[in-house]
Amino acid sequence: EQENEDEFQKSFKEMISTLPKGNSWGLPDHLYQYQGFWLTPPFLQGVMLAQQQFEAQPTDIILCSAPRTGTAWLKSLTFATITRTSFDDSTTPLLFNPLLFKMPHDVVPFLELDHAHFSANRHLGIPLLATHAPYSFLPTSIIDSGCKIIYICRDPKDTFVLMYHLFTRYAKSQNTQPIELGEAFELFCEGVSWYGPYWDHVLGYWNARLEHPDKFMFLKYEEMNEDIEQQKGVPEKIVKMCSFENLSNLEVNKSGKHREGQGNLGIENKIYFQKGKVEDWKNYLTPKMATRLDQITQQKLSSSGLSL
Ligand code: A3P
Repeated sequence: EQENEDEFQKSFKEMISTLPKGNSWGLPDHLYQYQGFWLTPPFLQGVMLAQQQFEAQPTDIILCSAPRTGTAWLKSLTFATITRTSFDDSTTPLLFNPLLFKMPHDVVPFLELDHAHFSANRHLGIPLLATHAPYSFLPTSIIDSGCKIIYICRDPKDTFVLMYHLFTRYAKSQNTQPIELGEAFELFCEGVSWYGPYWDHVLGYWNARLEHPDKFMFLKYEEMNEDIEQQKGVPEKIVKMCSFENLSNLEVNKSGKHREGQGNLGIENKIYFQKGKVEDWKNYLTPKMATRLDQITQQKLSSSGLSL
């Protein structure tokens, strides 16, 4: 097995050295363009390993998203829904919902990085797995098995601003010079962002959803927010537990750490819980920048029937 792994590492390194290289918004790892999308080596390697190894089960639910579109919220809502009869409100440790002492990213394994834990949640009867992989990168077993896919997307203007904040905080935590907003904006518009081009990521899932309507649930962050504000048929207890207000005030999300001991990937949980606002882009983008992003969005989505 070790031999196979060494072989995989070697051919991965060779392959990556042939790919176009892009600025990773000030982070030390570069982005590489593989089959149309920009990823850093650990994530690309993780997807490729999953393509070889991951066997989806028909009962699995795969949570898919581009970074910064509401991934943590989707994880907490689905986890809380699936486990709704397993935990109660008591403080008895075994019955205490894991979401109250683990951050949402730590209750759902991540396809690209958590190979060792793929089966752990399944054994617990929680068939959830998350990925930022574009649709065209998904292991074939996800497409071929009867498993379900939930995709979440968000206004590109907010997604960009949230990405910019996350990566400047990452850069600071790694003592590297954070990127300027204007430079990050240019890169995002050109599609050079984590798992970008963002629009192609969304369109990949949108088009696949039209092909396999029974397999997909396609969500927009803004619509979910509206449904919750208007309390349109939402299970109140779950929504309350997973609300930004509740989760961001939990000790684990204020002072805990995510992926500690995993090199560059380690980060404080609180940077995933900053504002939870819709249209916060208005505080960061000039009208000119907003118009430019809107134009790209219109152009890219023009014939798709999707609006963002
Ligand atoms: P901020 O923390 O910067 O405000 P992702 O999980 O894909 O990285 O997306 C993170 C963003 O989703 C957060 O960015 C916030 O806007 C929103 N978010 C996170 N947790 C949420 C929750 N429980 N409810 C609603 N929105 C949430």
